[in-house]
Amino acid sequence: MMMQATTTTLNPSSLLFSPYPTCILMDSGVGGLSVLNTLLSFNVPLNIHYVADTAFMPYGSKTVTVLRSHLIELFKAFESRWGKGIPIALCCNTASVVMEQLPWASVFKPPFNLHDIITPTTNQITTLQQQYPQQAPQHLGLLATELTIQSGVYPKRLQQQQVTLAQFTGIPCPQLAASIEGQPNIPPPEQLLQTLLAPLNTLETPLDALILGCTHYQFVADIIQKQLPQIPLISQATVMAGAIATLFNIPLDPVTPTSVKPTVTIWSTGNPNAFQPLIPKFLPLQPDTIVHAF
Ligand code: DGL
Repeated sequence: MMMQATTTTLNPSSLLFSPYPTCILMDSGVGGLSVLNTLLSFNVPLNIHYVADTAFMPYGSKTVTVLRSHLIELFKAFESRWGKGIPIALCCNTASVVMEQLPWASVFKPPFNLHDIITPTTNQITTLQQQYPQQAPQHLGLLATELTIQSGVYPKRLQQQQVTLAQFTGIPCPQLAASIEGQPNIPPPEQLLQTLLAPLNTLETPLDALILGCTHYQFVADIIQKQLPQIPLISQATVMAGAIATLFNIPLDPVTPTSVKPTVTIWSTGNPNAFQPLIPKFLPLQPDTIVHAF
């Protein structure tokens, strides 16, 4: 009798065994790793799939139309890999702007479980203003990609949430995300930031606070703070990590037992070998994590 050869194919959706609920984190590149670092630092019991859409990076210089059809295809690919209804956390402002404008029901049948990064950020500003009206910023700044600034989504949302501001200043930062990733033929972040931030030091009414409205910028927060020493920075890494934890009813609590370790799988839509060298620098808590091709 002839023996039939059998092959076992590894299901890529289950590369790691995890007892924890699954959550997908996505960004165009390393930006969302700032959120993942926070989740790791709190030992959040989650099975995290981080998707870096490196094949389509940068998002910020693309049009809403182009990005919208691309993201729809990407989320369909998430559904076929991980199934319907798995929470997707958009750790990307630019993607959040684009997805906000989409009539979901016409594209994705429920359950579709998408969570943007703008909502927890504006919610936090609203809460701060309600709790500490005396110290609330009157002049708020936003550093973000061209697409995020053009959309006007931050001032619009803050207005809807009854946050009263005397002034709002948006600063588009072309090339900054790519520069942070160390892409070739782009000036280093220090140089770009010097030009971008210089006008903020001579404003007639100085900024009271500055939102880092692109997850990549968290990685150069110290450079920004050095150039704007008087201005408090609003960072999204903790805000978004908190929103993700809340989604799963997990307290973001420094005493979470350290025996708990999130399971993390990293995917890249582009060449995984090109993304792999960025992991030790941008995910210092799990520097050896292997990048898989999505
Ligand atoms: N990290 C992204 C954001 O939060 C976008 C960077 C890019 O690809 O332009 O907007």
